[in-house]
Amino acid sequence: MLQDGKLLIGVGENPAYLLPNMANRHGLICGATGTGKTVTLKVMAESFSELGVPVFLADVKGDLAGCCRTGERSAAIDGRLTKLGLDPESFVYHPFPVRFWDVFGEMGHPVRTTVSEMGASLLARLLDLTDVQAGVLAIVFRVADDKGWLLTDLKDLRSMVAWVTDHAKELLNEYGNVSKQSAGAIQRALLQLEDAGGDVFFGEPDIDLTDWFQCDEKGRGFLNVLHCERLYRSPLLYSTFLLWLLAELFEQLPEAGDPEKPKLVFFFDEAHLLFKGAPRALTEKVEQVVKLIRSKGVGVYFITQQPSDVPDAVLAQLGNKVQHALRAYTPNEQKAVRAAADGFRPNPKFDTREAILDLGTGEALVSFLDEKGRPSVVERATILPPQSLMGPIDDKRREAEIQYDELFGKYETAVDNESAYEIIHADRQKEAEAAAQAEAEKLARKQKEQEEKEQARAQREKEKEERAKQAKRKSSASAKVANSALNAVGREVGRSFTRGVLGVLKKWF
Ligand SMILES: Nc1ncnc2c1ncn2[C@@H]1O[C@H](COP(=O)(O)OP(=O)(O)OP(=O)(O)O)[C@@H](O)[C@H]1O
Ligand SMILES: [Mg+2]
Repeated sequence: MLQDGKLLIGVGENPAYLLPNMANRHGLICGATGTGKTVTLKVMAESFSELGVPVFLADVKGDLAGCCRTGERSAAIDGRLTKLGLDPESFVYHPFPVRFWDVFGEMGHPVRTTVSEMGASLLARLLDLTDVQAGVLAIVFRVADDKGWLLTDLKDLRSMVAWVTDHAKELLNEYGNVSKQSAGAIQRALLQLEDAGGDVFFGEPDIDLTDWFQCDEKGRGFLNVLHCERLYRSPLLYSTFLLWLLAELFEQLPEAGDPEKPKLVFFFDEAHLLFKGAPRALTEKVEQVVKLIRSKGVGVYFITQQPSDVPDAVLAQLGNKVQHALRAYTPNEQKAVRAAADGFRPNPKFDTREAILDLGTGEALVSFLDEKGRPSVVERATILPPQSLMGPIDDKRREAEIQYDELFGKYETAVDNESAYEIIHADRQKEAEAAAQAEAEKLARKQKEQEEKEQARAQREKEKEERAKQAKRKSSASAKVANSALNAVGREVGRSFTRGVLGVLKKWF
């Protein structure tokens, strides 16, 4: 709720105002489960919307979706309003302009980015690659860039890794060594990412971040609710995605100096997921981005159970704090309460540590930055109720909200434009066609040779036969000659014999 241009979040001894010009100095909402963190987040988000500041909310449990519906009056809320010094009769319940988003495209407009946009270093972290493997991935990106081949989705990246591995020898001098082992490890990590559902996040049309900077016709900032129930089951994907978002915003936004109000505010509910078990390099990147993004007019608010869920370097940058009740049954919990209490400027009127243990639901210790950017003395305050509905909405209502949104249709259908995969695939096809052609030509050549050989053999056979025939003819001709000669000799012999006999006979007679 706005009061005198300031965001009224709760009331204690004094009203607790979050100042618009200090809202980009980030914030933290902490507390044990069920103490009121998500409702506080809603109250803040609603006030930003009223101020004309668009908001981005990571909705892990689905209970932020109710922002698109009118809140419901109840006796408990009337009692809270009275305690806050507000008139329950004149408190206005109303819905806020909400846009639903979902990386998986199921519970909101799909949110996609391209592999190139995410970049080699963030992707290397997402894939949990070693330094050597990350180096190979950087080469893959560089080669794709030099060739002008777009890396849009994971199949582009997989084809590109395979292509670079196949051409490693040619690339060695210009880009460095790409070992088969490293390329294999990248391919395996990519398969794992696909199994975790990471493939749906990469593609086109990719998100135009200016769509998150919009206000409705009344000038109220849109509440962009990112449905994270499924996404947060893959903590590495969840944290990388949110980090990519911040990094992308940081890159795209111009310097804002000290703006009167933020350009956009991020709320990360269940923020411990961002840091728990995250690789050190990822945490360092969050620290760095959170530090730098303030100057672009973007405020980041983390919501988690204990301040110790957030690394110290990040914690030190969170100027606006709301601490709900903590429990202290174990030594570790007692330590956490002490640490949380030490993070506030003490109020001489109460003991911070005791107050943290004593707070009721929807009550909190608050300290916001004052006009000079100093943390105010801690106040014990009752938090306002939200004006929109607390809790989730049914699927039908969500569906209707998505379909009536003017952005409906812009992202719903994925397109597969020509990119590295198609180019490499076409290249491979050409190579395969050329190889098939060469093979066919070789076969035809062999066949021709065989045929020629056959023909020559047949010719030789024919000639042989011919020769044999001729020889036969010749031999039968000479036999004839011999015969006739013999006959002639025979006849001559016969004749001389006859003559001889006749001669003898003549002598006798
Ligand atoms: N400011 C408030 N005004 C009205 N009711 C509140 C307020 N804060 C908390 N409540 C009540 O307490 C319930 C629990 O609050 P909420 O869901 O915000 O807790 P939480 O700390 O986010 O819990 P969890 O850790 O389980 O997410 C709400 O459903 C609501 O009924
Ligand atoms: Mg909650």
